[in-house]
Amino acid sequence: MKENKLLLPLEPDETPEMAWLWIGTWSMGGEGFGPHDERESLEVLRLALREGIRHFDTAGFYAHGRSEELLSKALKGIRGSCFISTKGGLKWQGKKVVHDASPEGLRRALTESLHRLKTDYLDLFQLHWPDPQVPVPESIDALKEMQTEGLIRYWGVGNLSEAQVREYLSEYKDIPHQVHFNPLHRTDSVLRAGRCFCINCIISPLEQGLLAEGKSSSGRTALSKRDLRRRNPYFMNPQAVERCKKLRELTSKAPYPLSVYVLLWIASKEDVHTLIPGPRKIWQLKEILFFRNIVKDKGLLAGYDEEALLRGRVVRELFPMGLWEQLETLNRGLR
Ligand SMILES: NC(=O)c1ccc[n+]([C@@H]2O[C@H](COP(=O)([O-])OP(=O)(O)OC[C@H]3O[C@@H](n4cnc5c(N)ncnc54)[C@H](OP(=O)(O)O)[C@@H]3O)[C@@H](O)[C@H]2O)c1
Repeated sequence: MKENKLLLPLEPDETPEMAWLWIGTWSMGGEGFGPHDERESLEVLRLALREGIRHFDTAGFYAHGRSEELLSKALKGIRGSCFISTKGGLKWQGKKVVHDASPEGLRRALTESLHRLKTDYLDLFQLHWPDPQVPVPESIDALKEMQTEGLIRYWGVGNLSEAQVREYLSEYKDIPHQVHFNPLHRTDSVLRAGRCFCINCIISPLEQGLLAEGKSSSGRTALSKRDLRRRNPYFMNPQAVERCKKLRELTSKAPYPLSVYVLLWIASKEDVHTLIPGPRKIWQLKEILFFRNIVKDKGLLAGYDEEALLRGRVVRELFPMGLWEQLETLNRGLR
């Protein structure tokens, strides 16, 4: 396991071992994920805090800033002991999503995020996506300047390709990189490319709900017209949805829900350093805490001499027969 020390909270006595599990706030903003209860999402954040989680991921782009606002509400009075990760470089233009990762665009995004989060520094500020109109090193230089000015503690990136990781990050070490990875969306080569340069942070680990037990797990038919997951090709692919349903059948009599097995499987993969699931309901957070407690109780966290976060062989023994293999091959031949 890579020593994740760059990302520990400011006060290291605040459960530093939780640095490998962050809570994502995208769906908590109440936009694009169907019917929403803001009070419950706030309660999710508060319960996560009571349970010792201190790392939270958000973005100015999420729900037009409302995810950041909700996070700032939850962190009122305890900001100094928490780790806030947010991003710039994507924005809304009417109903369209556009890139703006120019130095000026990133600076503007930072100023707005600081304002919404009611803080004068960020622990981590990331390039949300590479901007096709702006060379990645130019965006990175802008982030480095913010770090020099003391506005951000660390800078990071998101959604880089394998080639981009090699090309733009090879001169650095331990740069947080948000990578979309799960049994449906296999980006193993990106994770591998970041082995020496990155802290690989896994986003959308449950493929936005398909690899879990909620209503949205039945795919397109469960989504309202304005649900942004209509843009997610897996939700629109009956074959992918059917395969996920089979996984749920396989875990229906197992001790843990599917989401827990998926998170265990991900964290056992080489070069996975941090997981960022995005619960917005209490029962969803409880599944994640259940996962966290299994890791703790069964002593699954690997030592720093291992490449994965969890000790894979021991984790595998917890799986019902055939499930590990099915997760391993889930995306094979998907049309
Ligand atoms: N850098 C980037 O470009 C990027 C992109 C995506 C995500 N992220 C980060 O990663 C975080 C997580 O990604 P995500 O929200 O896309 O996907 P996710 O964690 O894979 O899925 C979240 C959705 O799954 C459903 N769900 C069902 N059971 C759950 C459980 N036990 N725990 C959590 N969710 C459960 C919920 O939807 P329903 O309630 O509708 O069923 C929830 O909104 C985001 O919040 C964000 O911080 C970053």
